[in-house]
Amino acid sequence: MRTIDVRSLGKRFDGRWVFRRVSFQIAAGRFALLIGANGSGKTVLARHLNGLLLPDEGEVLLDGVPVTSDLAGSRQQVGMVFQDPDSQIIGQTVYEDVAFGPRAQRLPEDAVAERVAHALELTGLSGLEAAVPTTLSGGQRRRLALAGVLAMRSACIVLDEPFTFLDHGACVELLRYLLELKRLGHGIIMITHDLDKVLGEADHVIALADGGLAAEGGAADILRQLPAYGIRRPHGELEQLSWLR
Ligand SMILES: Nc1ncnc2c1ncn2[C@@H]1O[C@H](COP(=O)(O)OP(=O)(O)OP(=O)(O)O)[C@@H](O)[C@H]1O
Ligand SMILES: [Mg+2]
Repeated sequence: MRTIDVRSLGKRFDGRWVFRRVSFQIAAGRFALLIGANGSGKTVLARHLNGLLLPDEGEVLLDGVPVTSDLAGSRQQVGMVFQDPDSQIIGQTVYEDVAFGPRAQRLPEDAVAERVAHALELTGLSGLEAAVPTTLSGGQRRRLALAGVLAMRSACIVLDEPFTFLDHGACVELLRYLLELKRLGHGIIMITHDLDKVLGEADHVIALADGGLAAEGGAADILRQLPAYGIRRPHGELEQLSWLR
């Protein structure tokens, strides 16, 4: 998958629009941030990218094909790490949980095992294969949710506030790994309030405010405009705004 094309998207609940006329494109191999104040519609928008929510106006296309024409396929192409990790943990053990996605892709069991091992290694959970997910710490459960998405090798990965509950070392590791995935050609879309920790790594920023798209562009342009969207401008030069500095 090469591009996600969001076209004039609108969503309402109970007659009230969360946003309207939101349009943007995200290409493979790019790291995009989706920003905006609490309640601006970031999570709702993200859930449209693979058809977990369906719009009231407009559409989302994956390489020109509407998400709605193949919901199951769309969910494999666009993997989602939810804001609340517990909502996506389904396995009885760590291993079973991470294996769920690759098994749904009908991979042979040895390939499933290889994917699980790699995803657990990347998320620092190796050795916990037999653990029961509910007995893990908050940070470990968040890593587990991420491992499940990584194991699917989705072309695009959407992460909703992924740094919550993670310690400093885990934040650094996560960002490093996402940049590696980007280098390998995956598209990364991150929802975050931690602009001072990621803006310096972003290629593309999409800002929601006042029921629509407030701005879209490169990180440097957006940095200058942040106060206009009710977002505090982080201190320091753009290149310094990273967990990796
Ligand atoms: N299932 C739903 N039914 C009704 N309203 C909803 C539903 N889901 C979201 N909303 C409303 O849509 C708006 C946007 O919510 P959303 O969760 O996308 O915000 P957000 O930008 O992700 O905020 P945060 O930064 O707090 O996570 C809110 O006003 C919320 O109440
Ligand atoms: Mg949210």
